[in-house]
Amino acid sequence: MSKTYVTTDRKGSVAVIRFDNPPVNALGQGLRLGIASALKEAETDANVRAVVLVGYGRCFSAGADITEFGKPIQSPNLHDLIGTIEASRKPVVAAIHGTTLGGGLELALACHARVAAKDARLGLPEIKLGILPGAGGTQRVPRLIGAEKALKMITSGDMMPAEDARTAGLVDEVTSGDPLDAAAVRAEHLAASGELPRARDKSVPGDKADLDKAAAALTGKGRVLRAVSACIEAIKAAIELPFDQGLKREYELFKELVESDESKAQRHVFFAERNAAKVADMPADTQAKPVASAAVVGAGTMGGGITMSFANAGIPVTLIETTDAALKRGLDTILANYKRSGRTPQAEIDRRMSLISPTLDIAKAAGADIAIEAVFEEMEIKKEIFAKLDRIAKPGAVLASNTSYLDINEIASQTKRPGEVLGMHFFSPANVMKLLEIVRGKATSQATLATAIAVGRKIGKVPVIVGVCDGFVGNRMLGQRLKATEQLLLEGALPHEIDAAATSFGFAMGPLAVSDLAGLDIGMRARRARGVRAAVADAITDAGRYGQKNGRGYYRYDEADKRKPIPDPEVEKIIVEASEKLGIKRRSIGQEEIIERLNYPMINEGAKILEEGIAQRPGDIDVIWVYGYGWPVWRGGPMHYADQVGLKKIRDWLAEQARKSGDASLNPAPVLDRLAREGRGFGLA
Ligand code: CAA
Repeated sequence: MSKTYVTTDRKGSVAVIRFDNPPVNALGQGLRLGIASALKEAETDANVRAVVLVGYGRCFSAGADITEFGKPIQSPNLHDLIGTIEASRKPVVAAIHGTTLGGGLELALACHARVAAKDARLGLPEIKLGILPGAGGTQRVPRLIGAEKALKMITSGDMMPAEDARTAGLVDEVTSGDPLDAAAVRAEHLAASGELPRARDKSVPGDKADLDKAAAALTGKGRVLRAVSACIEAIKAAIELPFDQGLKREYELFKELVESDESKAQRHVFFAERNAAKVADMPADTQAKPVASAAVVGAGTMGGGITMSFANAGIPVTLIETTDAALKRGLDTILANYKRSGRTPQAEIDRRMSLISPTLDIAKAAGADIAIEAVFEEMEIKKEIFAKLDRIAKPGAVLASNTSYLDINEIASQTKRPGEVLGMHFFSPANVMKLLEIVRGKATSQATLATAIAVGRKIGKVPVIVGVCDGFVGNRMLGQRLKATEQLLLEGALPHEIDAAATSFGFAMGPLAVSDLAGLDIGMRARRARGVRAAVADAITDAGRYGQKNGRGYYRYDEADKRKPIPDPEVEKIIVEASEKLGIKRRSIGQEEIIERLNYPMINEGAKILEEGIAQRPGDIDVIWVYGYGWPVWRGGPMHYADQVGLKKIRDWLAEQARKSGDASLNPAPVLDRLAREGRGFGLA
């Protein structure tokens, strides 16, 4: 039986056309066809004077069906449909609720009026997919709200609350009732007045000089992605060209972007993000347990950030420490973090702080639905805490460790409820970074896993399920990059040269600037705990250089700007001496080689991680690197990038490096070797 995407009913003389394409009414072929034929019927029905478009379910429409991109589009395309609406001789009014995005909003903008529910949110998020609004958004939005505001909306991709959209001129009316009722009334009024207001007939208000200034601010600093410059070009066309020519220019730019590697990478990340929290063997009826309260053990940097994430989401959280001083320090840092941005109103800060209950008594975790341990990375301390939590936590509570390396199974073994134990590995700063590695132990129950995923989403994180191994997915791969960095330094590269290669690749910061930011003493302690030596890194910390925290690390930092890395001849001396000690003859190393050496061993480790089942899918690894380690989203993550480069090239490079260096860990992972031999990739690009 074929699916019904559209139903039409009547409200007086108004035809109500409802879209039904769950979950978000994406405007795929079936829905487009359904709307087009319902419109045609309404146009020819003498009893119909006006039309209202409305969505079933959670929203009006989240836009074009992204899965159709790159495939031949069947008729009617979104442009044809939007053209039909705009040309209608009977007024068409959009009744907007939920998140109305991209092509969904563009379709509404072609209507003769828009009525939005009070809690609706409207946006053009195409930039996040590396494209521009290609269904008239860059032409109609400037005509409705002015070019400068349109530029901000389109290049940020941010959503606008309904009331702001009304003030700006994007919607005509906001209602606290059902938008369908208000839209029907408006449609009848329009029919009675004979007016057919259309965005295309307006001219763009405002001064072009303001647009130029705003555009210059966007392009003035650093790398400018093609999608951003294309948005600017399209909005300029709205001012400079007649409407239809502007539309044509917009479409040309859209086509260019949609076919670009950058957009393909961003679309890959969009779907990978949504897949990453899906657990292959989880029965569909698995229920997450409700989480109404949390406890965090440890008020240090990580514990504080995790506590903030819960408070930000409105979940009461008990913050546990062992001394008054540590608790006070933790709370002071939380408060300072809230105040730092300057954007959170004091009343909101007060509300969030009031959700945090500080205590020195771990027994207060007894009432929490989830307890997260965030203390030092020492197995014995963690075991002790879990044994205590096991004694006091209420039955069914989830017990999570924020460990970044340690064995969850060993931690779980300290409890009589290993099924309720798992890892929840947050990334620093935990109140900001979106990645959450959820570490599934061998005994972790499906319900525990589902609860951690649900709570992760609730506190604004992107959960990715990983298995137990040293460093899980992200840090295990990072280990390969750190090793490569150390070797590059020894062979001839300087910190600023390595970092310049990484930033030219697209990272916001290079690996050495990142190490300085994180604190070099942390890496030093981790190496010591494992008995690992690193000639350069050890010499740097032996010289008392701990990074930004004491103004000296791989770079020096001065009072004028404590965060700006400045190359330091003293560091160069330390590095050169380390090379000499090991008898390594230094040479100049080019950017291309640096990028290969930073990335390819990590990709190889990613392949091993897949082979061992530590990550469920290659896309999960990409999500981890994009959301946890600053991998540029327009390069899609390391595994997507590997597919773009070609696995054969990477396999040959690894084999050659393993042979030259004698480092067996660089031998291509069997899965990488096999795929390369078969001329395949990870199936991502
Ligand atoms: N096309 C296809 N599938 C989509 C989709 C879209 N536009 N938007 C969401 N989905 C799918 C998701 O992949 C997900 O599928 P699975 O359940 O199979 O994983 C499902 O809908 C639900 O999505 P979320 O899990 O993201 O649900 P949410 O409630 O957390 O968020 C949302 C809803 C805010 C709409 C979010 O999905 C979102 O931001 N979607 C993308 C919106 C977008 O980018 N629109 C512009 C499209 S491009 C365009 O319109 C171009 C143009 O100009 C012509």
